[in-house]
Amino acid sequence: MSEPMLAVRGLDVDIVPPKGEPIPILRDVDLAVERGTVMGVVGESGSGKTMLLRALMRILPDRAKRDWHQVIFDGADVTERFDRERLPLAMVFQDPLTSFNPLRRIGGHLTEVIARFQHVRGGEAQARAVAALTDVGIPDPERVMRQYPHQLSGGMRQRAMIAMALLAEPEVLVADEPTTALDATIQAQILALLHRLQVQRGLTVVIVTHDLGVVAALCDRVTVMKDGRVVETGAVADVFADPQQEYTRTLLAAIPAAEIEGGRA
Ligand SMILES: Nc1ncnc2c1ncn2[C@@H]1O[C@H](COP(=O)(O)OP(=O)(O)OP(=O)(O)O)[C@@H](O)[C@H]1O
Ligand SMILES: [Mg+2]
Repeated sequence: MSEPMLAVRGLDVDIVPPKGEPIPILRDVDLAVERGTVMGVVGESGSGKTMLLRALMRILPDRAKRDWHQVIFDGADVTERFDRERLPLAMVFQDPLTSFNPLRRIGGHLTEVIARFQHVRGGEAQARAVAALTDVGIPDPERVMRQYPHQLSGGMRQRAMIAMALLAEPEVLVADEPTTALDATIQAQILALLHRLQVQRGLTVVIVTHDLGVVAALCDRVTVMKDGRVVETGAVADVFADPQQEYTRTLLAAIPAAEIEGGRA
């Protein structure tokens, strides 16, 4: 593999309760994502997928303690600088309703991100926000700018969340089950949108999903987690064709073969 865009090596995360022993959440996790590719992270509920993304985004819970051997970003060792510097990473959450401020209009959310990351305000910021909404396939974006998050449908809200993440001009987009809360037709539309944006912008993506159909459709490589550890990683086609771990075989057995064959792998 060539130089990774983002790599973390030897990541441990513990939750430190007020009393008693720390609880291990992640152990010795390695993740390396090549520039312009999509890494899928799969594994059963509680295996640590969200905590891995939160460690990358520096949004671990207060009680969490993190330790790692090395972090690489765009070919540079940023292990020492990681907590001080802003790296161009942005995140899309499973439920955008919880990550928007309910009292703030969509336009306010977007122009704040534009002010912060692109240093532009006023009419130009408005215009960029409208363009961003258009780019993610939101019809009548001027109207949506004036709406509150709860006034949008789930699919439109997820599109707006993706637009907001991209306005931070990330090189790496991290997504935690971005389609799980949506119904099947809308899921397919959001996946197609993510795929188009990834290809058009050459984004590097880390996407957590419990759906191996999503991995087949969108991802180049996949990392399988279990009990806070990586149990398998590799090219999607290789892992699906010849899973090395019993655990991965079990995951694979749970989905229809057509979904895998119809995908990108
Ligand atoms: N805020 C928190 N405080 C304490 N422990 C937590 C917290 N969030 C998660 N955990 C614990 O960390 C472990 C990993 O959780 P995580 O949310 O990363 O799993 P996941 O793989 O994302 O699961 P799911 O597929 O259900 O989203 C679990 O044992 C969970 O109970
Ligand atoms: Mg999760």
